[in-house]
Amino acid sequence: MNPFSFGNIVRGDEFYDRTRETELLVSTLTGGNNVVLFAPRRFGKTSLVFKVMEQLESQGVVCVYIDLMATYSLESLVELYVNAVKEKQGRIETFAKNLSKWVKSIRPKVDFGPDGMPSFSLDFENGKADAATVTEVFDLPQHLAQKGKRVVVVIDEFQEITRFQKYGLEGVLRSIIQRQKNVNYIFLGSKTHLMMQMFDSKKRPFYNSGIQVQIGPLPQEDTIRFLQQRFASDGMVIGEEQCKYLIECVGDIPYYIQLLASVLWQRVVTNKHTITNDDIDLCVDDIIGLKGDYYQEQFDKYSERQKSLLKAIAVDGCNIFSSRYIQRHRLAPASTVQKSVAVLTEDGVIEKEGGNYFISDPFLRRYIIAKYGL
Ligand SMILES: Nc1ncnc2c1ncn2[C@@H]1O[C@H](COP(=O)(O)OP(=O)(O)OP(=O)(O)O)[C@@H](O)[C@H]1O
Ligand SMILES: [Mg+2]
Repeated sequence: MNPFSFGNIVRGDEFYDRTRETELLVSTLTGGNNVVLFAPRRFGKTSLVFKVMEQLESQGVVCVYIDLMATYSLESLVELYVNAVKEKQGRIETFAKNLSKWVKSIRPKVDFGPDGMPSFSLDFENGKADAATVTEVFDLPQHLAQKGKRVVVVIDEFQEITRFQKYGLEGVLRSIIQRQKNVNYIFLGSKTHLMMQMFDSKKRPFYNSGIQVQIGPLPQEDTIRFLQQRFASDGMVIGEEQCKYLIECVGDIPYYIQLLASVLWQRVVTNKHTITNDDIDLCVDDIIGLKGDYYQEQFDKYSERQKSLLKAIAVDGCNIFSSRYIQRHRLAPASTVQKSVAVLTEDGVIEKEGGNYFISDPFLRRYIIAKYGL
């Protein structure tokens, strides 16, 4: 079986490094602080918080994981919260009884199937949830924190709370969190620019709340060791230089390292030999070839100015608003570059890291470079 996994949360021996970050997050949370975890897309934020939850739970902390990506209505938000909390409670019947006391406008139902197994569902008063229901639901973690228990709530894809702007849920959650005792939070999300706006803008309820932790790429020596061990366990050899080349091809982004390694494994497994840079190049070409139409479509939807900026960032993403940069890449004035950056960032096509911009998908970057002879 292919030993490289990408796209899912990685756990156990699929997860390497991040020891220092794990310790920092665990100690910050157990010290009674909230944390905001920042990193560009696909750097391993969600996998890291799963590791953190594992360690916290081994210390007796109750951890609740909530992913807001799939919430599209108040009812789905309520169900998500309730189900996440239910997982941490003992008997379903007791939980249902407690829940009807804690949240007045919902009626939990427990039914027993022919096999005697209980199933849990919710009925909403008047058939739907309102902001008051959600307010009570946001306080559920406090009920878990009774009897001296510590609780950590992880809210993933937190930027999606802005879907509920008209109910002011961002402010509601912030004030509830401030009142809670023995409950701490980790906030993270894949849309980094929206997360930044939520925590760095004075006008937003979550301004300056929580200790900001930034994670970067995984250390190269650990990635090299991981790649070499995984290939070796299937009788394949990859040298240090080839590992470095693979890492460089994908801009050192953890998700794409695993993706490229997975395609490489597939290519070499049938004809085992010492892996060369040519093998890696062929895999890159395969990936770009497979996704070429999609990349072209993505590129074509932008205006000429946005395309010019994408081409420029594909080559170099430093100081992109400087007059030297604008001249060198024959771009429109800085104010227009700003507008293009806003559109491309909103779409997630480009991202910012340490003041520099880069194309989020390293294969799209290589596609643009190859296609336009840059
Ligand atoms: N510590 C790690 N060890 C091994 N692989 C990792 C690690 N961190 C990330 N990866 C790789 O990156 C992929 C994406 O990880 P994950 O979903 O945790 O990232 P994310 O930052 O939450 O992504 P998104 O921004 O899309 O939410 C994983 O499936 C795995 O291939
Ligand atoms: Mg994630």
